[in-house]
Amino acid sequence: MASSIPATQKAVIIEKTGGLEVLQHKTDVPVPAVVDGQILVKNDYTGVNFIDTYFRTGLYPASHLPYILGREAEGTVVKTGGGNLYGLKEGDRVLWISEGAYAEYTAVDASNAIKIPEGVAPKIAAASAIQGLTALTLVREAHRVEKGDWVLVHAAAGGTGLWLVQLLNAIGANTIGTVSTPEKAELALKAGATHIVNYSHEDVKQKVLELTGGKGVIAVFDGVGKSTFDVSLEVVARKGTLVSFGNASGPVPPFSIARLSAKNVRLLRPSLLSYIATRDEFEYYVNELFGFITGGKIDVRIHGVYPLSEVARAHADLEGRKTTGKLLLDPSK
Ligand SMILES: NC(=O)c1ccc[n+]([C@@H]2O[C@H](COP(=O)([O-])OP(=O)(O)OC[C@H]3O[C@@H](n4cnc5c(N)ncnc54)[C@H](OP(=O)(O)O)[C@@H]3O)[C@@H](O)[C@H]2O)c1
Repeated sequence: MASSIPATQKAVIIEKTGGLEVLQHKTDVPVPAVVDGQILVKNDYTGVNFIDTYFRTGLYPASHLPYILGREAEGTVVKTGGGNLYGLKEGDRVLWISEGAYAEYTAVDASNAIKIPEGVAPKIAAASAIQGLTALTLVREAHRVEKGDWVLVHAAAGGTGLWLVQLLNAIGANTIGTVSTPEKAELALKAGATHIVNYSHEDVKQKVLELTGGKGVIAVFDGVGKSTFDVSLEVVARKGTLVSFGNASGPVPPFSIARLSAKNVRLLRPSLLSYIATRDEFEYYVNELFGFITGGKIDVRIHGVYPLSEVARAHADLEGRKTTGKLLLDPSK
């Protein structure tokens, strides 16, 4: 199989940070070599995540430039290095989470890859990894949600939002979702949200307090950031948890921790990678995620598959709030 690997490939790189114009689709990027402990994966589908836009704009600094964006993909192992490969071999269909996914080929540490079970259809692993694992770790570890809890999920029809709503529904929580359009409201309700607030024109605080008899919600999952942080703090219940896990509307400005004392609120700013940092943690959560998928318990909504050459359109749609569910890239196009 190794002989059919080309010397160069299609990939999207950034040489500097900025707007959509910094995304360069190239056709002559060297295919990386593998070292011990690595596998070379021919990527079939690459996931687009909001975090990719942060690396593009420079909100999160890339480790080096030029830089290949993208953090998750599914594909086939086409070459292996030596050493511990966690049982992976050429021909295996794998899901991986690391760096350099906006490319046809990626050299990945085998510790960050895992075989995809038979029952998981093409596209679904790449469409589920980061957003599904984020939702799963948030409801388990950031705030362990229990049956009957009242919780608030912002951007409930987004990629991570739809996962959160479905997992919370499976737990038996009462989930209030915020969305910006009636179409998104319908999707979030179908996914299992029990109540919806359209935060583009409805008063979130008033509605949440009404629904919860003035108590507020025991947990808020807020990936919107700057524009929702204050209302999230206002509607979290006494001794509740505010999980601020993203910046879709911009980063939350510096914050005085004294504001937490009025209701003894727990505030977390978690990242997925710190929940799946060890191989055991990675395997544990990925296997659970695959279990939800093969058990038919989760509907993985794919907004669209974009040719890699149209990555700027994918970023524009995601940042422009035009999407619901997951965006994928086809690296071969
Ligand atoms: N901490 C972690 O490890 C981790 C991991 C994965 C994701 N995240 C975070 O989770 C959030 C969601 O990520 P995602 O990839 O699943 O994206 P997404 O939710 O599919 O898209 C973002 C959504 O945010 C809402 N939004 C509200 N204000 C916005 C604004 N000013 N600009 C753009 N969007 C706005 C939009 O929904 P409405 O139109 O309904 O408002 C939009 O569809 C992001 O903040 C991301 O960074 C964090």
